[in-house]
Amino acid sequence: MGAGSLPMAAVLAACAEEGAGAPSSTPMPTTTTPPPSTSAAATTVPPTTVPPTTVPPTTVPFDPATPWWLQGNYAPVLQEVDAFDLTVIGALPPELDGLYVKNSSNPPRSDSPHWFFGDGMVHGLQLGGGAAQWYRNRYVHTVPYLGNLGFGQGAPSGANNQSNVSVFWHGGRLLTSGEVGFPFELQPGDLSTVGAHDFAGALAGSFTAHPKIDPATGRLHAFGYGFTPPFLEYYIVEPDGTMSHREPIDLPRSTMIHDFQITETDVVFWDMPLVFDLQLAIEYINDPSSGVLPYQWQPQFGSRIGIMPLAGGAAQIRWFDIDPCYVFHSVNAFRRGPEVVVDVCRLSSMFDPSTAGGLGGESSLHRWTVDTVAGTVTDDVLETVDPGDLPGRDPRRVGRDYRYGFLTGNRENAHTVELGGLIKHDFVSGTREVWEPGPTRHATEPLFVPTDPTDLADDAGWLLSFVHDDATDQSVLAVLDATDVAAGPVAEVVMLQRVPYGFHGTWVPSDS
Ligand SMILES: [Fe+2]
Repeated sequence: MGAGSLPMAAVLAACAEEGAGAPSSTPMPTTTTPPPSTSAAATTVPPTTVPPTTVPPTTVPFDPATPWWLQGNYAPVLQEVDAFDLTVIGALPPELDGLYVKNSSNPPRSDSPHWFFGDGMVHGLQLGGGAAQWYRNRYVHTVPYLGNLGFGQGAPSGANNQSNVSVFWHGGRLLTSGEVGFPFELQPGDLSTVGAHDFAGALAGSFTAHPKIDPATGRLHAFGYGFTPPFLEYYIVEPDGTMSHREPIDLPRSTMIHDFQITETDVVFWDMPLVFDLQLAIEYINDPSSGVLPYQWQPQFGSRIGIMPLAGGAAQIRWFDIDPCYVFHSVNAFRRGPEVVVDVCRLSSMFDPSTAGGLGGESSLHRWTVDTVAGTVTDDVLETVDPGDLPGRDPRRVGRDYRYGFLTGNRENAHTVELGGLIKHDFVSGTREVWEPGPTRHATEPLFVPTDPTDLADDAGWLLSFVHDDATDQSVLAVLDATDVAAGPVAEVVMLQRVPYGFHGTWVPSDS
């Protein structure tokens, strides 16, 4: 599978609980000239490129007899450990005072039919005073985990989900999400599971793995998508953890919606042609080991961006058509006068049976500019060479005009999803910096933690990323100064046991 195309598509797909087949050999795009915009409006953001020579060739060994998600650093770790006063190489910034925690798919059974079908396991590292105080990894005690059921025992919903995609901190609660069903609450002190969390009965459907906290209000905006109507619901959770708003949104069919965005005044959805198929779902439930996909690529239904007022009603949503594509993750969005700007990690297709392997198409970094007055969308290609995915940004700029996004690079590999370096993309100048951790080392999702609350520059902070070295089979938590990503880590915390690549993490400040 080609770097920037299928591998990252699979990474992204891991955030949705989907089955998948063998990797494809879809080639990486070789042009450095961006395709023309899909609208008549002028390109407003300069495209960028990174010389391909900055990406080292793969050195990852591969065993063809073992599924790729059960080997190398995708393989689960089976021990729950406690470690204290971990070794730090370099100088850990003393202002990093809090818990870094990340979720992952970690099957305790050797017959796991896909990377996405593992039970949720969180890895937590408590930092403070320039030290790495403790590390713990713990399974999320979901219904499937406690029953040793694996994935697919009936339609996932409620507490019957593996809660293996993300973790977030809001309303004084640390919550994991598997996108399908309820979140699970954890104790931040020891990562033990409190239980499924339905917001005091207010949540009936599913809850996204990518909620957004409005930095101005502290409100958490979220959504859930379902297999049955309502296919989409919009939620607001107040800073005290109370769900105050539930708005069903009418869609013509169930589509997989992994992420969304907010601005100061808008909610932004994208409805794309990855469509739920009931017959396939039945086949899947009857035989979860088959890896049958309940969602299929059906581009005839098109793609569209939906914009509605923040805290608004479904009747106020306006839809804007774009070319068929799929987007798992977005970097950020903001309002600019009549325009809503959305930066996304775009895939030309997903699970398209006509592409090799039937997984994903080409990946690229795009900017959608929706003119809500003229009713047009400008679709600018910002990067096609190692465009990156699994993005992060300054949490103080969520939904606000911003400059920097931080992404995970990807390397060419025909056998597995090979992560690469860390990318700092400047959305104002169109330039980017890359840190390549070395031919045998692989970074993961960069999490941005602000350095100083009075310094509002959106690269004034630290990037936290677990990095695995295939040569030693060891992991470190790398800490980079976001103002100088290319310089590499200022500190690395040596982990007691390796940390599988996993998906999404968060930061819990000690004073929160
Ligand atoms: Fe995700």
